[in-house]
Amino acid sequence: MFAQRVRDEVSLRWLEPHHGEALFRLIDASREHLRPWFPWVNSTREPKDTEEFIRGALRGVAEGREAHFGIWVDGQIAGVTGAHTIHRLNRHAEIGYWLGQDFEGKGMMTASVGVLLDYLVEEREIHRIEARCAAGNDRSRRVMERLGMRREGVLREGECLADGTCDDTLIYGILASEWKGRRGAR
Ligand SMILES: CC(C)(COP(=O)(O)OP(=O)(O)OC[C@H]1O[C@@H](n2cnc3c(N)ncnc32)[C@H](O)[C@@H]1OP(=O)(O)O)[C@@H](O)C(=O)NCCC(=O)NCCS
Repeated sequence: MFAQRVRDEVSLRWLEPHHGEALFRLIDASREHLRPWFPWVNSTREPKDTEEFIRGALRGVAEGREAHFGIWVDGQIAGVTGAHTIHRLNRHAEIGYWLGQDFEGKGMMTASVGVLLDYLVEEREIHRIEARCAAGNDRSRRVMERLGMRREGVLREGECLADGTCDDTLIYGILASEWKGRRGAR
């Protein structure tokens, strides 16, 4: 099993099709928690939907424009983080993340995204990393702020949510030099 250690019991593994069943079970158990922020939750109805997502993600990995990791805790999948857009020429990436409901509030995501940023900066030589969230998603904002990402802009009503309302999208960014500076200061 190939894994990158995050901390004690937490590790990242490349998402692979055989994780589809376990990942689907996690989504299924966390529907109410994820639905407000992700339109794909309602269209994820059975394990094959999640397997298809992973196969599509792996095509993006093969083409060098995506990177997706499962977050594993004590042998159980707890969430996902990754870059759904990597622009090799611009050296720019946009990241995303989510946790199953039972895994929230333990510091796992901030630590996992930190390892993702290390990978993007060190191995992929990405210069600028960006993340977006709905203005009302306080937990997601706090992850970005704890990592030292800077709030750079607002897209007015950029996120149309499951309840039918459209919230502003906040854009956060961090440069490779800033991330290396923070990591060096740790
Ligand atoms: C966004 C999301 C990943 C954030 O999860 P999270 O658990 O709040 O973030 P972390 O795993 O980094 O945990 C940090 C929290 O754990 C607490 N914590 C508890 N034990 C800790 C420990 N040992 N070390 C660090 N933090 C710890 C921190 O105080 C912090 O809580 P606070 O924000 O209330 O101060 C999660 O809420 C989620 O999946 N939401 C639904 C999907 C979503 O919105 N995704 C993002 C879309 S843009």
